[in-house]
Amino acid sequence: MIKTGGLADVVGALPAALEPLGWHTRVLLPAYPGLFDQLAAAGTKVRRVWHTDDLFGGPAAVRRGVHNGLDLMLLDAPHLFDRPGGPYTVDGHDHGDNHVRFAALSWVGARLAIEGTADRWRPDVVHVHDWQAGLVPSYLKYAGSLIPTVMTVHNIAFQGVFGPDQLDRLKLPTWDFHSDALEYHGLVSTLKAGMLHASRVTTVSPSYAEELATPEFGFGMEGLATMRLDRGEMTGILNGIDTDAWDPATDPAVVPYSATEPAGKAANRAALLEEFHLTDHGGPLAVVVTRLTYQKGIDLLCEAVPGFVAAGGTIAVLGSGDPGYEYALGDLAGRYPDQVGVWIGYDEAKSHRMYAGGDIVVVPSRFEPCGLTQLYGQRYGAVPVVAATGGLRDTVTDATPDALADGTATGFSFGDARLGGAVDAGGLGFALGRATDLYRDTDAWAGLRSAAMTTDVDWGTSAARYAELFTGLVS
Ligand code: ADP
Ligand code: GLC
Repeated sequence: MIKTGGLADVVGALPAALEPLGWHTRVLLPAYPGLFDQLAAAGTKVRRVWHTDDLFGGPAAVRRGVHNGLDLMLLDAPHLFDRPGGPYTVDGHDHGDNHVRFAALSWVGARLAIEGTADRWRPDVVHVHDWQAGLVPSYLKYAGSLIPTVMTVHNIAFQGVFGPDQLDRLKLPTWDFHSDALEYHGLVSTLKAGMLHASRVTTVSPSYAEELATPEFGFGMEGLATMRLDRGEMTGILNGIDTDAWDPATDPAVVPYSATEPAGKAANRAALLEEFHLTDHGGPLAVVVTRLTYQKGIDLLCEAVPGFVAAGGTIAVLGSGDPGYEYALGDLAGRYPDQVGVWIGYDEAKSHRMYAGGDIVVVPSRFEPCGLTQLYGQRYGAVPVVAATGGLRDTVTDATPDALADGTATGFSFGDARLGGAVDAGGLGFALGRATDLYRDTDAWAGLRSAAMTTDVDWGTSAARYAELFTGLVS
C-alpha cells in the first residue's frame, strides 16, 4: 500500500462505492517501488495494456491488475518512479523532478483516455485528483479531446508549481502561457490548470467549497474558485470511509466491539495506555493521528496539552512531519511522561489501535478540506474534538445542550469563523475542557459515543453524488 494521507483512502474506497451505481473505475497510479512485488505476493496477475519508448526521458508501460476489487493500472516508468524515498520526497526534500514525474502521469492518463488500452478499454469520464493529476484536463484539451473531466481538489495548498521554461519539455504549449490559462503568477500550476480546464470541479466538503472562494483559504486560487462556483461548475462532496476495512467489530488490529456491544473498547483503551507507557489520570484518553504540519494545528495542540493533562487527560500522538513539531511533541512527552505519549512515524496498524483505544480524537486543523481521522474516530467511538473548519465543520455536530438532548451531537467543535470564532489554542483548550467534563458523566458520555459510532460515515450518499455528476457529463 502507498499512502501519505487521506487521498489514498479516497482513491482506494470510492471505486468500490461507485461500482454498484454502474460506474466501473480504473485507477491509474505510479508504480512506486515494491508495488509489483506486493501484487505478486498477493497472487494478483498484471498485464501490460499500454507502452511507449519515451515518456519524458525513458521507456514506460502501463500494467493492469485487479487487486482486492480495485482495478489498478500502474505506470511502470523506472526513470521517474523507481527510486528511494516516498511518493513526493526523499530525506525530507521534494524530488527535484516532481513536475516531470506527475506531468508524465497526467500525460499518460490523457493518452489512455484518447487512445484506449490494449485490452480495449476507454473511459467515458476521467476523474483526476489534486495537483498530481492536474494536467490531465489540459493535455486532453490541447489534444482536442472532448472526453469530460472532473477535477477533485483535496487540498488547495499543494499547487504543483514549476517554471515556464519547463513547458516545452512537458509537451505543454508555450502560446497558452498567460493568466487566463496555464500561467499562475509567472509560474505554471498544475492545480490551477486542472481547476480551469476540467469540465467540472469538486472538492471534498461543502464548507471547503465555499471557503476556497475566500482569500483566507483559497491560497491564491480564490478568483478561479469563485468563477467556477458562480457558474455552478464546482461543488463540495464529502468524503466517506471504507466501513468494511474500518469496522471495530471485525478489525483484526483491535479487540472487537461495536456501538451495541461497546465493552471491548475498554480493553483497547487499556492496551493503548500500555503501548504508550501512560497512566490513567481519570480524564479522557485523547489520540491524534496526523501529518505534523502547520495545516494540522500541531502548535495549538502543544499549547493546549498542559491544561488538558492538568485536568486529568492523557494523550497519545502518532505522526510525522516537520521536525519542529516532532521536537515540541517530544518535549511535552518528556515533561509529562505518564500522560503524554508520542510516536514519530507512520504506522497503519497502530492508527487502528489508536482510534479503538481513544476516548477522543483531536483535530485542531487551521484548514481541513474534509479530514478523515474524525470519521475513523466516530466509527471507532473516539469522539472528535475538532476545529469548525471545512469538512470538520460538516461532519461533526457540536455537543451543545440541545444537541445532546436530542441525540444529534457527535463531538465537540470550536472556532467556527462564521460564528465569530477563531481556531486558536484557547478555543481548543476550552473544547477539550468541555469534553473532559462530559467524559466524567458516564451515561452522557456513553450516549454521545454511541451517537458518534452510528453516524453515517460510509461512501453511500457521496458516491451517488459523484455518479450523478458523471452521468450528467455523458448524457
Ligand atoms: P490528510 O490527507 O490531510 O493527511 P486526512 O484526515 O484526510 O488528512 O487523512 C489522513 C489519513 O492518514 C488517515 O487515514 C490517517 O489515519 C492517516 N495517517 C496520518 N498520519 C498517520 C500516521 N503517522 N500513521 C498512520 N496513519 C496516519
Ligand atoms: C487532503 C486533505 C484532507 C482530506 C484528504 C482526502 O489531504 O488535507 O482534509 O480528507 O485530502 O480528501
